[in-house]
Amino acid sequence: MKENPSSLETSAAADVGSKDAAFHASHLTRRLAMLAEYRLPDGVEHIKRIQAIAQILATELGLDATMVHAISETSQLHDVGMVAVPDTILHKTEPLTPEERDIIETHTTIGARFIGRPTTRLLRTARAVALSHHECWDGSGYPNGKAGEDIPIEARIVAVADTFDALQSLRRHRKAIPIEMAAAVLEQGGGSRFDPAIVAALIASLPSISELYKRRS
Ligand SMILES: [Fe+2]
Ligand SMILES: [Fe+2]
Repeated sequence: MKENPSSLETSAAADVGSKDAAFHASHLTRRLAMLAEYRLPDGVEHIKRIQAIAQILATELGLDATMVHAISETSQLHDVGMVAVPDTILHKTEPLTPEERDIIETHTTIGARFIGRPTTRLLRTARAVALSHHECWDGSGYPNGKAGEDIPIEARIVAVADTFDALQSLRRHRKAIPIEMAAAVLEQGGGSRFDPAIVAALIASLPSISELYKRRS
């Protein structure tokens, strides 16, 4: 159930000065994520599953515990820039026009601008995720056409988690597809759209990722 925004402000204010900096960074990340959740179809559940999948992938890839935590936390903010996209486009059920797609794509740069120039590792990770989660391994993505390891690993991980979960969910005019088929789609995109090492981590982690979807049904 969604919380009331005014009660959130009250509880956030009451917390100030009573918790450490790490807690506050995490708290702020969660609150910013709620901005996007309020507006996106399937927002809350999608964001929770992305967070879990990103954590599984980062762990499988052998990243250190701090980075695993940062990626999992900030994956919640990947689409925070969507708050600036008009409802008529965000909730459109017909295919988008090229102009509407251009507007949707601005959610990456707007999200990064919204997070600003961060001074902490957590917010640096958040900015990279928001800005670069639609970049492609072969350089064909947006907004900057970055390729390979020039794309921050946090963004490469969230790209795989985001696409995998989107395939699992009923979105716009498309039906959800079975987990094995979603994994096959990701495998096909390994080396072009996605980092092949992260796709391999997804395939290796399918048993634990499947559990997330069993809990949903
Ligand atoms: Fe996105
Ligand atoms: Fe998403």
